[in-house]
Amino acid sequence: MNIQPDPAGKHVEHQHTDKGYVPVYTTAVVEQPWDAYTAVDHNVWAQLFERQRKLLVGRASDAFLVAQDAMGMTPDAIPRFDELNNILQKATGWTIVGVEGLLPELTFFEHLANRRFPVTWWIRRPEQLDYLAEPDLFHDLFGHVPLLMNPMFADYMAAYGRGGVKAHGIGPEALVNLTRLYWYTVEFGLIRQADGLRIYGSGIVSSKGESIHCLESSAPNRIGFDLERIMRTRYRIDTYQKTYFVIDSFEQLMQATAPDFAPIYARLATQSSYPAGTVLDTDTVYHRGSGEGWSQDGDV
Ligand code: PHE
Ligand code: FE
Repeated sequence: MNIQPDPAGKHVEHQHTDKGYVPVYTTAVVEQPWDAYTAVDHNVWAQLFERQRKLLVGRASDAFLVAQDAMGMTPDAIPRFDELNNILQKATGWTIVGVEGLLPELTFFEHLANRRFPVTWWIRRPEQLDYLAEPDLFHDLFGHVPLLMNPMFADYMAAYGRGGVKAHGIGPEALVNLTRLYWYTVEFGLIRQADGLRIYGSGIVSSKGESIHCLESSAPNRIGFDLERIMRTRYRIDTYQKTYFVIDSFEQLMQATAPDFAPIYARLATQSSYPAGTVLDTDTVYHRGSGEGWSQDGDV
């Protein structure tokens, strides 16, 4: 693996800053500059960690909470990737690698296919506790990494990476379909537990507002997982989701996504997309959102 140490001075320059609304696509894997984190950075981690853990008891899936405990993350300090990797590699063969931010699609898929999860090394500023426009360390580490301890989910993420490499070779429409699957499972998925709906999506668990909204608001739809339906459904990147898709188990997710997607992409290429808030007659509806019929402006 190509680990490029940060050039001198870069830590200071990027210290708890986000890069605004324009994603910077750098491909390099970087060493986590742990000593460069300031007291403010550690404090942002501590505040977010404590706030979310309190909120997530009874809201996040047992699988997520168990996995996060098993990783030994604490609010005391920003975790060291090396220490988490000792645990993670033994559990499922996954490795966290540090990155500056979003990666080009193919690079990202190749990391996943090889069981490497890219984690943004910098953390948001104190005034960004509730929202920022791009993934930071809290979203990536607190949101994504715990479930990589779960053997079934760990396999799903690697399979997704291989599927991404394949879709990239097929073309941009295939990638749109596959990205919607990632969005509605890995980022914003809900799971049906014996005691009710629970969160497993990273975009939700790392957000205070959406952790409450996705389960307790009457506005969004909550609909049973359906692969092709999801691949046809547009989504929101700037507001809470209008629709959440609910899986029964990670086994269901693995099985539903195991078939070759190539014929599915070919079929979907001739079909239109659904607006983010649509409910279909064929849907398994757990909750029909009161916001149904929302304007489609802003659906991507
Ligand atoms: N079965 C998918 C394909 O053939 C690969 C995949 C698996 C994609 C799991 C996403 C999740 O492309
Ligand atoms: Fe994410």
